[in-house]
Amino acid sequence: MKRDFLAVEDWSRADVESLLSLAARVKRGEIDGGLERKVLAMVFLDPSLRTRTSFETGMFLHGGHAVVLEPGKGSWALETEDGVVMDRDTVEHVTEAARVLGRYADALAVRAFPRGSDWATARQDAILAQFARHCEKPVINLESSRRHPCQELADAFTLREQLGETRGKRFVLTWAWHPKALPSAVPVSAALAAARMGMDVTIAAPPGCDLDPEDVGCIEALASEAGGGSVTVDHDQAAAIEGADAVYAKSWGPVSLYGQPEAQRAWFDQHRTWRLTDGLMRSTRGGRGIAMHCLPVRRNVEIDDAVLDGPQSVVVDEAENRLHVQRALLLTMIGSRR
Ligand code: CP
Repeated sequence: MKRDFLAVEDWSRADVESLLSLAARVKRGEIDGGLERKVLAMVFLDPSLRTRTSFETGMFLHGGHAVVLEPGKGSWALETEDGVVMDRDTVEHVTEAARVLGRYADALAVRAFPRGSDWATARQDAILAQFARHCEKPVINLESSRRHPCQELADAFTLREQLGETRGKRFVLTWAWHPKALPSAVPVSAALAAARMGMDVTIAAPPGCDLDPEDVGCIEALASEAGGGSVTVDHDQAAAIEGADAVYAKSWGPVSLYGQPEAQRAWFDQHRTWRLTDGLMRSTRGGRGIAMHCLPVRRNVEIDDAVLDGPQSVVVDEAENRLHVQRALLLTMIGSRR
């Protein structure tokens, strides 16, 4: 029976700990090879810098090979609806694409951001689910509507690396203004990572900037399972960040306004001042709290230059850690020495 990696919480706490331990050994240079003659097929329905490059590099470093497909740009435009008459622009159905890639590769990785104008539909992550259903090999989520599990692993790894003991420390996920509404997979995954680490999580956002209630429930459940962790919501950014050990800046669109661009714009325009500034970072614990972001980041929109270029920023370490946790993930999922 194959085992997919679609959401970190689908794996047991022991399995996640073992991935993080292996990632630390990988980062220390203790693991050579293990993916010889293995192939990873990656399907990107949306753009990427870090995810694509870190997976390609990870496969290469352990002796394997990665194939990257961008449907509609060099590979056939994919149809993702079931039961449709394919007499328009799409040429290949996801059913055959997933089955065929599963015959060539040892694992299949897919990026598919939310599509359409209805959150109730988008939150089902139907494209990822179709790939997982039709591919006979393990499927890895490279960011879907609901989760970015590889980023979540890297964020958990980075929190531990930077803070040492994470239990009882304060993690603030702060909303930031952005010219367009972004998906909520990263902020949810970041909060899940901190909750898993037993941190006190504060979600700082303007009133009405709701995340999917079921996702908030998952964050609360992980915090409680970790023992001692907590989740609170604060509408005052400065008060929330004061004394924090880690501040994760990220924009997302309120799920209640999903698919309503005009209402989103009107709502966003009321909250233009929400930005991670040097002054806010100086108010963190001892003035030394870490500043996190998954990247790409819009400078001086989400986070100021002074923060990104200053000593508290760990955004590039987070990006580097994507490589190490994914090498551990690949070795665990398809490695020859499992
Ligand atoms: N953080 C992240 O997933 O980066 P990319 O979108 O560049 O892959």
